[in-house]
Amino acid sequence: MNTHETPVLTEAELKLLQALVYQECGMHFDDRRTPFLQDRLQRRLKECHLDSFYSYYRLLISKDGKQELSALVENLTVNETSFFRNKAQLELFQKDSLDDLLRRKTERRDFSIRIWSAGCSTGQEPYTLAMLMADALSYYYLRHAVPFESPVPKPLIPAPWRVEILASDINYSVLRAAQEGSYSEHRMGGVDYGYRLRYFDKVGDRYAIKKAVKELVHFDFHNLKTEYLPQRNDMIFCRNVMMYFDEAEQKRLVEKFYRCLNPQGYMFVGHAESLLGLTDKFQMVHRNSGTAYQRVEVKM
Ligand SMILES: C[S@@+](CC[C@H](N)C(=O)[O-])C[C@H]1O[C@@H](n2cnc3c(N)ncnc32)[C@H](O)[C@@H]1O
Repeated sequence: MNTHETPVLTEAELKLLQALVYQECGMHFDDRRTPFLQDRLQRRLKECHLDSFYSYYRLLISKDGKQELSALVENLTVNETSFFRNKAQLELFQKDSLDDLLRRKTERRDFSIRIWSAGCSTGQEPYTLAMLMADALSYYYLRHAVPFESPVPKPLIPAPWRVEILASDINYSVLRAAQEGSYSEHRMGGVDYGYRLRYFDKVGDRYAIKKAVKELVHFDFHNLKTEYLPQRNDMIFCRNVMMYFDEAEQKRLVEKFYRCLNPQGYMFVGHAESLLGLTDKFQMVHRNSGTAYQRVEVKM
């Protein structure tokens, strides 16, 4: 073969590579998305200076291929996201689900809240949740008397509450950008000026998430395909991630999410996604056009 020619990807090689990617991260490439997979495989092959897709496959399954496998997966993820994505659903989260959670937790005198943004991409989703949480808790204390003197200046999260937002992804590059928390004007589309003023610092021509908001969010690598996922969450946001998995993988993941949630915990999926037909362990909750799913508890 001429070294400048691109090797042909045979049907058999494509099947092998598709199966490997599915096994590694759950991503499924149907006919519609196969050209995208082919394109990314071609790029990686070139990068690795290999002359056939079969040798690329051999590299990926070898002991030394771990790094390349991560690089391939990173190239295959779709990382599109934005601040305040799906406003109707976020309103349901802030006004209903969170209110219900705060009421139940207050009754039990358990003041810790844990939310997991699974597939957080470049951080807009978990930071949006942090801003909404901070506002919701302050507003909660406007309506319910604070049982003690509040320190000055007021902390972002009023005592005795402790909020942890865990944000995870399979892609290290997006996690690094998320941790950085600095966004160009172009990425600030959904953020109105009230939020910009309270929760961002203007640094040059970019908007940097304020330190106090950042401190609420903890970023980590998690592959949703694995069994070792973060437990004891009050709510899980996994939006626009499952749509890249096939139905079998979606069912397995929803089962895992059920176990990762506290009793009566809430699950939020993307606008084009649904838990209907995947499980009967969640019950749908609606407000205007926002949807969430609440864990159903089996009565003994
Ligand atoms: C389209 S983005 C969605 C971002 C955000 N949740 C939203 O709705 O705006 C999907 C993200 O899921 C991540 N992802 C895909 N497969 C994953 C897996 N197996 N484990 C963890 N994250 C995964 C991708 O890296 C990507 O950042």
